[in-house]
Amino acid sequence: MHFAGQHILSVNQFERADIETIFAVADQMLPYARRKRVTRVLEGAVLGNMFFEPSTRTRVSFGSAFNLLGGEVRETTGFEDSAIAKGESLYDTARVISGYSDVIAMRHPEPGSVAEFASASRVPVLNGGDGANEHPTQALLDLYTIKSEMHGRGGDIDGLRIALIGDLRYGRTVHSLCKLLCLFQGLEVHLISPPELRMPGDIVETMRSADHKVTETEDLEDHIAHVDIAYSTRIQEERFGSREEADLYRGRFRLNQNIYTQHCEPNTVIMHPLPRDSREGARELDDDLNDNPNLAIFRQTDNGVVVRMALFALVLDVVEQVDRDARDVNWYTGSRFQ
Ligand code: CP
Repeated sequence: MHFAGQHILSVNQFERADIETIFAVADQMLPYARRKRVTRVLEGAVLGNMFFEPSTRTRVSFGSAFNLLGGEVRETTGFEDSAIAKGESLYDTARVISGYSDVIAMRHPEPGSVAEFASASRVPVLNGGDGANEHPTQALLDLYTIKSEMHGRGGDIDGLRIALIGDLRYGRTVHSLCKLLCLFQGLEVHLISPPELRMPGDIVETMRSADHKVTETEDLEDHIAHVDIAYSTRIQEERFGSREEADLYRGRFRLNQNIYTQHCEPNTVIMHPLPRDSREGARELDDDLNDNPNLAIFRQTDNGVVVRMALFALVLDVVEQVDRDARDVNWYTGSRFQ
């Protein structure tokens, strides 16, 4: 794929070589994201960061990634602060904002809405999540994390054993991740969910067509016993008709230190796209795992910055210029990155 000027809307647009390109550029971004080096390669460029659904990490890491490349960020959050609340169409909004920006990141509650917006945009649009459909940049950072964690343990993505746990029906991160995993070979995938919240059948079929061994089950303990990655997800309350309906499933599959010690292999990596639901009655990923060195959730969030920096550098075609005129940082940076 030729990245310059392209929208990033779905993981379906990638081939395996594209993933390798993105990850190589993400590696190149590490000294900048880890506050060792400074680059101003996107000085003068503007990111339009448009989030019409709540977000902490996707919105802020898109903005941070752009700032770390030297660019400026202009942000819209929520429909109520946008002219969409006055009836403006996605088409008109896209025509307007793409005149103010060099690239746009967008989250919207309707499946397909970001693609509709992109079709009217005059600049590249990156999908930050469209309803229960896709979250391609999250899938890329998840896969980058899986690769990094597996390499640290002498493994790889090919041949991976992974359990995906929780709300697999509405969880857009696992939809995108499963599609990406089809670019790799010989995976064993355990889909652990209530029957009503199973992974959409077309995605399961796509994984089986890729010759992955896929099991759908409600049995958490047996199916986290022999996996490299246990990937937990939150019940996506915002996609249910009511809070009471979501309550039927909340807390059904909990992973805590005791369950981990009893049932997982000692090196199993624990992942979650976050936010995890820390309220009493939910806790799908318990706080008592916070000191477990195999808990990779904050390595995932850190990786979100390098992967999004890589995507900006690729679609704005500055990869070759990033290291030019770069310098060391001149402020105290501490030791927050491992
Ligand atoms: N993982 C993720 O999309 O988190 P936010 O909703 O905070 O962006």
